[in-house]
Amino acid sequence: MVEYKVKDPSLAGEGRKKIEWAETHMPVLMLLRKRYSEEKPLEGYRVSMVLHVTKETAVLARTVKAWGAEVYLAASNPLSTQDDVAAALAEDGINVFAWRGMSEGEYFWAIEKMASVNPDFVVDDGGDLHVYIHEKKREAAEKIIGGTEETTTGVIRLRALEKAGRLLYPVYAVNDAYTKFLFDNRYGTGQSTVDGILRATNILLAGKRVVVAGYGWVGRGIAMRMRGMGARVIVTEVDPIRALEAVMDGFEVMSMDEAAKIGDVFVTATGNTDVIRKEHILEMKDGAILANAGHFNVEVSVIDLEEISTGKRLIRPYLEEYRLKDGKRIYLLAEGRLVNLVAAEGHPSEVMDMSFANQALSLLRLKDEGRNLKPAVYQVPREQDEMVARLKLESMGIRIDELTEKQKKYLASWKI
Ligand code: NAD
Ligand code: ADE
Repeated sequence: MVEYKVKDPSLAGEGRKKIEWAETHMPVLMLLRKRYSEEKPLEGYRVSMVLHVTKETAVLARTVKAWGAEVYLAASNPLSTQDDVAAALAEDGINVFAWRGMSEGEYFWAIEKMASVNPDFVVDDGGDLHVYIHEKKREAAEKIIGGTEETTTGVIRLRALEKAGRLLYPVYAVNDAYTKFLFDNRYGTGQSTVDGILRATNILLAGKRVVVAGYGWVGRGIAMRMRGMGARVIVTEVDPIRALEAVMDGFEVMSMDEAAKIGDVFVTATGNTDVIRKEHILEMKDGAILANAGHFNVEVSVIDLEEISTGKRLIRPYLEEYRLKDGKRIYLLAEGRLVNLVAAEGHPSEVMDMSFANQALSLLRLKDEGRNLKPAVYQVPREQDEMVARLKLESMGIRIDELTEKQKKYLASWKI
């Protein structure tokens, strides 16, 4: 019996068309789906997933189901669910508990559900499910063979659990696969963050001073794509090496104190807290726009913004105007949550193809090897990464060279 709670089951038809569209743009995952659909390697297993409920996640959930698993799905953010997709998934026999605009309580109710169905595998984006199990549902860990983690912030939390000696099952850090972070975090977030900011504001980016906080994989993607739109990009960093890299990539680099005074649009991408706070906002120009692309809504201090404001009003979806005591207006996008998933649709399918091929393959790996792995955070093996890259290249009709025997010998030798 399929259990679900979605906003409106009658939206399933619309959701189905979107999922079909995503499937035509996710050739690697679709090939893997086909390859194991007869064998059904996950038959008899239950998988709990906490991911952004998008058309791309639907392709992953349907793949894992086609491999025989019973799938439970909850949202990894209260505002990122695509309600029509959730409705289609419920119709497809996925146990989905997600709707856009969930309250904090409802969000954790759904996470609790994912932990309480006694899963064999857990797939998470951001670490809320992993942490919930470790703090509030430790008995569920006894049955869990292993887990995966989709994003940088989740991997950081899991490594902290591991360091504290408290990790209860093995986890593959899918985020840290090259075919994930080099493409998803960089090009996926780069494009979809620009998309989210434009859908929410429809401003002209050309000529604007866009301040990007953090020059990690997400930050460099955003900086690169903003520059492509003609924005004058400023980067802020705390890591001297990454700051230097941003300088030599041709960006202006300065402290947030300085950038606050001159920026038109601010985008945080650090995975850290309180990156833009009261003292920065007070220095900003009238009309400054604040957005976040990092996992949690803590990078722009909304608490500080509320504290120094006399009132706020919604100008258009996901664009809120805050009026400061001196009359200045500051605009916050998507309530400070991931702007690319709330105001737009997240990364394009082509990039999620690789991220989710890694998720799917990591689940198969855990099924085969998970019981022999001690609780730790594991890198996705190089062979898996290379296989995903090769399949992606093939799907794009691109051939690459192979090392000749002579070249292999040359590269393996210390002699000239
Ligand atoms: P990363 O570790 O590669 O980069 C983060 C960078 O931020 C680092 O260079 C770090 O030095 C810098 N930083 C930390 N604190 C800072 C501060 N106070 N001011 C300026 N810079 C600071 O991480 P990443 O892979 O780029 O991910 C960043 C965040 O984006 C994470 O929360 C991650 O989970 C999230 N993410 C979001 C999406 C999305 O779809 N929106 C996709 C992938 C990752
Ligand atoms: N994270 C970023 N973009 C995403 C998408 N389209 N689907 C699921 N998770 C995502």
